[in-house]
Amino acid sequence: MLKPIRIKFLCLLFIIICVVAFFISNRSPSFNPRPVVPEVCPRSVSKQSITPLKNTKHLLVSAFMDQRVQGFDIRLIGMFRRDSIQELHCFFCCANYTSETTPTKVLQHSDNFGFPFVTTDIMCRIPKKCNATHVTLLTQTRPMNGSENIWLPIRNKKTNGGAEERMDFTVCVSNLFGDYNNVLQFAQTLEMYRLLGVNRVVIYNTSCGPDLDRLLRSYSQEGFVEIVSWPIDKYMNPSRGWRFSEFGGDIHYFGQLTTLNECIYRSMERSRYVLLNDIDEIIMPYQHDNLKSLMDELQKQHPNVGVFLIENHIFPKHHFEPSGRFHLPKWSGVPGINILEHVYREDPDRKIYHPYKMIVQPRMVEQTSVHEVLQFFGQQYKVPLDVCRIVHVRVALRKLLKLEELNVDKRLWDFQEKLIPHVDKVLENLGFLNDSG
Ligand SMILES: *[C@@H]1O[C@H](CO)[C@@H](O)[C@H](O)[C@H]1NC(C)=O
Ligand SMILES: *[C@@H]1O[C@H](CO)[C@@H](O)[C@H](O)[C@H]1NC(C)=O
Ligand SMILES: *[C@@H]1O[C@H](CO)[C@@H](O)[C@H](O)[C@H]1NC(C)=O
Ligand SMILES: *[C@@H]1O[C@H](CO)[C@@H](O)[C@H](O)[C@H]1NC(C)=O
Repeated sequence: MLKPIRIKFLCLLFIIICVVAFFISNRSPSFNPRPVVPEVCPRSVSKQSITPLKNTKHLLVSAFMDQRVQGFDIRLIGMFRRDSIQELHCFFCCANYTSETTPTKVLQHSDNFGFPFVTTDIMCRIPKKCNATHVTLLTQTRPMNGSENIWLPIRNKKTNGGAEERMDFTVCVSNLFGDYNNVLQFAQTLEMYRLLGVNRVVIYNTSCGPDLDRLLRSYSQEGFVEIVSWPIDKYMNPSRGWRFSEFGGDIHYFGQLTTLNECIYRSMERSRYVLLNDIDEIIMPYQHDNLKSLMDELQKQHPNVGVFLIENHIFPKHHFEPSGRFHLPKWSGVPGINILEHVYREDPDRKIYHPYKMIVQPRMVEQTSVHEVLQFFGQQYKVPLDVCRIVHVRVALRKLLKLEELNVDKRLWDFQEKLIPHVDKVLENLGFLNDSG
């Protein structure tokens, strides 16, 4: 029989052995007796904007350097299946060799509208001494022997020197899908953006109509429009609506929330402001000639604000300005809406939720939704209506309003002298104009 004192001693010994074993097993992998042979990297870099993550149901989109949150260096943006969230590890390509892995924090965005897939940020650290160029995620702490990794380039690495482009305003237009072919409104809107001082328009393209395709190609060749191909329908059944219970499908509006976030990060190191609005919306200053003078003044008044909320105002497309002044015959063969003909503005129904769109400083935003930011640094500010609002020509929202109940608003006409020749030039080059014009 063992004496009680002996039993106590053995127990203590056992605990000590366990603790020591625990510490040894948790030491950095470089102490492991059988290190995995470092792989030369990156052998295979993703060339797609959507990359399936091996051994999971998730999709990766982009990886960015982001050191704004303490304890992290990297933010990957992805579309994750909410029912299959699992532990993941960042795996790095350091200039030309692979490093050990680092733990991740997986942050699902709060806006999922009931859909199975949600925009997700994966945060992690870069290992010491690693000059990280590419990153991927693993489901284990080690790469599997022989498995091929698909690497994502790490973007927004600060390069010394100033070769980088600096822009004031980037418009992030989320997704183009279906056979949207609204050429005239598109051309007018893009030229309006240009007159207002926008430097770049980023558009995520799943699909579009044939004429709009031609127009977009021409804008993208010239460099004003940046097209990101967005073949989300190859990976899931994206919804055409905003709420799962009503529309079904795998993700909200063709992944709009993911593309808006991706666009903010894409623009973070190169654009002072980002405008988050749809392609049929124009964020319009009513007291300034352009966005630069608007934002210079707003920012001076509100130095700590990084998110400016702009109210959306609908100009119903079935009410036409009666004189027909801008009903130009040369545009009659161009598919789409002529925004200059629609000058009647609805007052929003203030009894119900009224959506805003936003001008943000990308460096002050962490996560965004469509009508509000979800996580941000600094403050936000609702811009007064007489200073700035959104001109949005579309089907009426308040269908019961009579013409007399609408406001006449000809703000767009203030730009017609330049706008019309600019639009003509683009349409002419592509052969859209009627000869009679
Ligand atoms: C990886 O697998 C190959 C063959 O499958 C083997 O020759 C090699 O030694 C393995 N390497 C490690 C580090 O296990
Ligand atoms: C890191 O790698 C990049 C690309 O390979 C290289 O241009 C850069 O000089 C490296 N930086 C350091 C500090 O080694
Ligand atoms: C990795 O880079 C180092 C330093 O630039 C170089 O000496 C080495 O040969 C490279 N290794 C491979 C496998 O390319
Ligand atoms: C948009 O995507 C569709 C489908 O892949 C493609 O046919 C079309 O050419 C693309 N348009 C542009 C301007 O990239």
